Amino acid sequence: MASMAIGFFVVTFLLQYLLLASVDAKPSHCQSKCGNITIPYPFGIGEECSIDKWFTVYCNTTFHPPKPFLAGGEVELIEVSQYEIRIKTYVFSSCNIGKNTITFNQNYMSTFVGVVFEETPFTLSSKNMLIVLGCNTVVRPTRSFGTSDYMSACVSTCGDGMKNGLCFGNGCCENSIPQGLKAFYIEKIGRIQNYDYITSLQACDSTIIVEKEKYSFNVSDLSDISSLGNNPMVLNWAVGNQSCQNAERERKTFACKVNSHCYDSVDGNGYLCDCTNGFEGNPYLGCKGLVLGFMFLLVGSSWLCLITKKRKLLKLKQKFFQQNGGLLLKQQISSLKGGTESSKIFTGEELKLATNNYDQHRILGQGGYGTVYKGILPDLTIVAIKKSKIIDGSQLGQFINEIIILTQISHRNIVKLLGCCLETELPLLVYEFVSNGSLSQHLQKKSGAMSYLCWEDRLRIAAETAGALSYLHSAHSIPIIHRDVKSANILLDNNYTAKVADFGISRLTPLDETHINTLVQGTFGYLDPEYLRTSQLTEKSDVYSFGVVLVELLTGEKPVSFERSEAWLRILLLQ
Ligand SMILES: *[C@@H]1O[C@H](CO)[C@@H](O)[C@H](O)[C@H]1NC(C)=O
Ligand SMILES: *[C@@H]1O[C@H](CO)[C@@H](O)[C@H](O)[C@H]1NC(C)=O
Ligand SMILES: *[C@@H]1O[C@H](CO)[C@@H](O)[C@H](O)[C@H]1NC(C)=O
Ligand SMILES: *[C@@H]1O[C@H](CO)[C@@H](O)[C@H](O)[C@H]1NC(C)=O
Repeated sequence: MASMAIGFFVVTFLLQYLLLASVDAKPSHCQSKCGNITIPYPFGIGEECSIDKWFTVYCNTTFHPPKPFLAGGEVELIEVSQYEIRIKTYVFSSCNIGKNTITFNQNYMSTFVGVVFEETPFTLSSKNMLIVLGCNTVVRPTRSFGTSDYMSACVSTCGDGMKNGLCFGNGCCENSIPQGLKAFYIEKIGRIQNYDYITSLQACDSTIIVEKEKYSFNVSDLSDISSLGNNPMVLNWAVGNQSCQNAERERKTFACKVNSHCYDSVDGNGYLCDCTNGFEGNPYLGCKGLVLGFMFLLVGSSWLCLITKKRKLLKLKQKFFQQNGGLLLKQQISSLKGGTESSKIFTGEELKLATNNYDQHRILGQGGYGTVYKGILPDLTIVAIKKSKIIDGSQLGQFINEIIILTQISHRNIVKLLGCCLETELPLLVYEFVSNGSLSQHLQKKSGAMSYLCWEDRLRIAAETAGALSYLHSAHSIPIIHRDVKSANILLDNNYTAKVADFGISRLTPLDETHINTLVQGTFGYLDPEYLRTSQLTEKSDVYSFGVVLVELLTGEKPVSFERSEAWLRILLLQ
């Protein structure tokens, strides 16, 4: 489920990246710089590189470095940023040259002039200031041409204490400009005092709208206006002439691209775009999540890593399954039909959990066959988990053999196989847990003996074992020879009920044969001498071994012991 969620996440990101690649509002050949001024989209150098004519920049290369202009070359652009531009300001000025000559600069041909941005995407920013320079000048601004919609007037006179940087009416007057003006007209009312103070030949009245932060009054500006025009005027811009709500409806012309959101211009008309949180870039072209992009890479790559790791593990498991005869088992099971309802294929993980990662304290027994652990399944069933030692193919056959046989038989005196696990390196068998150890442990005379078995118990155990062997030999359609009947393979439960275990070397005898030639296998001391000599295995071999168990039950002696007299040993071997 988690990997699916991550997968979805990755797909979403991939989709966004693909979308990003496909969204190209601006042709690739477009220059992004004019001189050393960056022109980001929706502005662009040339009409096809900009969103519309208002954003089209003309880059005049006769300057060094080249200079960008808006409005077909009228307005020099200083800077373009996310929602504002800076242009060179207009200077409205008139200068006295000599006692009675006045010249006006080209912007100031009448007494009523202004800056007008109606019908354009631009508005005057409140970052600007109205600055009036002069010695007896009154300027009255209005919002609309020829009306009496006045804003506060600016009055500048000249007197003692005129100082650079001070603009409080002494040679310089300043007034704030409200946000969002589309037009700003200035009306020069006229002079309010005589010219006595001005001594220089050239004295000018000037009106400019400049960025507050950038302009500081310089007394020399009263006589030399040449540098005033270099001051910036700040304009806000917006795209379109509708609100976001309306613009979003027309996906074709909607300017906000992938991973961006729209917000309405504070100045009324049009809207702007901004990258959504976590993304960066140009919202009019599509934003990229730098941090998220990195995360995407990280998550994506770790996800891939996880997948390949899982695949490898799966392959390994499959390899082990095959190596451990899983296919053989499957094949055998399918050929036996219906014998496997009770047995189960466990996963390696389940058994690892059940044995507390094969804890040393859970070991029930160890031997040539491998190690047996006590395991607790999630439903609290206690089981014995046999971790086989087998590694080569011949032993593998034996292992699979045991599974096949055990899955087919069901007898109260035979240990029940609950399932197996073949996906681990060493195959695992899961048996019912028989709590009271093996018969041999109970028969040991030495101090290590678990308990003393009374004669009734011994007789019953003998009968139960005989019953189990008889069942193996005859009750089943194919006779099963245990081949390793011994007291150590007869387990006892809490009620001392016998459970025959360890079918590691059992053999199924085909019906038409009464015996089979095999490599002699079994435990020394329990081996049928006839079988030892001829290698011919019959169910009588189990009967012989059972006889040895009976002697054990009667005498409590081990079949082979170096503590006993040699004579006893010789008799046993020569039989
Ligand atoms: C722009 O370019 C000129 C000349 O190449 C250079 O002197 C000036 O410092 C540059 N201005 C900026 C802001 O990079
Ligand atoms: C480019 O600038 C030069 C120098 O100011 C000017 O003469 C010329 O007209 C400008 N070109 C355009 C197309 O405005
Ligand atoms: C005032 O302007 C003059 C001439 O442009 C210049 O030399 C001077 O450094 C300026 N002073 C200040 C304080 O900016
Ligand atoms: C809004 O802009 C569109 C296209 O830029 C133009 O066709 C339309 O006339 C404009 N509407 C108004 C009210 O300015």
